[in-house]
Amino acid sequence: MTKVLIATEKPFAAAAIPQIKAVIDNAGFEMILLEKYADKSELLSAVADVDAIIIRSDKATKEVIDAAKNLKIIIRAGAGFNNIDLEACTANNVVAMNTPGQNSNAVAELALGMMVYMARGLFNAKAGTELTGRTLGIHAYGHVGSLVAKIAKGFGMKLYAFDPFISKEQIEKDGIIACDSAEELYKTCQYISLHIPANDKTKNSIDYNLMNSMPKGGTIVNTARKEVIHEDDLLKVMSEREDFRYVSDIAPDCKDEIAAKYDGRYYFTPKKMGAQTLEANVNAGVAGAEQIVDFILNGNTTFKVN
Ligand code: 3PG
Repeated sequence: MTKVLIATEKPFAAAAIPQIKAVIDNAGFEMILLEKYADKSELLSAVADVDAIIIRSDKATKEVIDAAKNLKIIIRAGAGFNNIDLEACTANNVVAMNTPGQNSNAVAELALGMMVYMARGLFNAKAGTELTGRTLGIHAYGHVGSLVAKIAKGFGMKLYAFDPFISKEQIEKDGIIACDSAEELYKTCQYISLHIPANDKTKNSIDYNLMNSMPKGGTIVNTARKEVIHEDDLLKVMSEREDFRYVSDIAPDCKDEIAAKYDGRYYFTPKKMGAQTLEANVNAGVAGAEQIVDFILNGNTTFKVN
């Protein structure tokens, strides 16, 4: 029988599991659940004889892929797949897929929630500021970025976006000003919402020049990946500019230094939680299970990323 492992160190909402299981059961496959595992060794033994795996931000390293001797497909239930060793997958004839768009609304809602939280001084009961009329730059206009735009319009923010892979016409048809470069976006916008993936080109790309060019009250909201921020440069801007703020659903490596020095100008969620809603868990988990079934039974490779 085809075995499908759900391996989530940060589990899906409990109510999502029966819906994911129903898809796997209906195909006549077996579901195995490994949640909140504390050690890599638990993951390594769980993958040993399974045909398919669904993960979240869990690290599917070469060691994990090599240990999964029967593996045919691995699904990242979510958008960013920088946690999967794609080369190892390809070398082992394993298809890797993500589930684009399925958890985007949850991430977009959190991005706006974090903006409000910062604008209101981390809910400290002192007079804060409003988002209406402020400039918001959306860095990458994909599934999440375009939903951030939709919600931010309701707040009456002035919207700008930059995405090197999406035409200006496509961005502007949504009533958003399309910038020609990241430089133009950052120097124009008080708030920046980051939605770029982490890859060799983007790692450390949000650097001193970009951050320091932001107008007074410059606030970066990062619900993407911590690796895209140049952390030494972030510390330099935080130390030089008392107005600069950084908020993220993934704490930077330099979080202790920021916490020690810049009270009130930062916030990090305890775990990555942009996609942590029941709805997003159901959408991404069920889509992942359906993609596995469709691949195993019909060979469908839509959403393959390797
Ligand atoms: C994604 O890439 O889809 C998000 O970062 C969500 O990650 P998570 O599944 O670990 O919450």
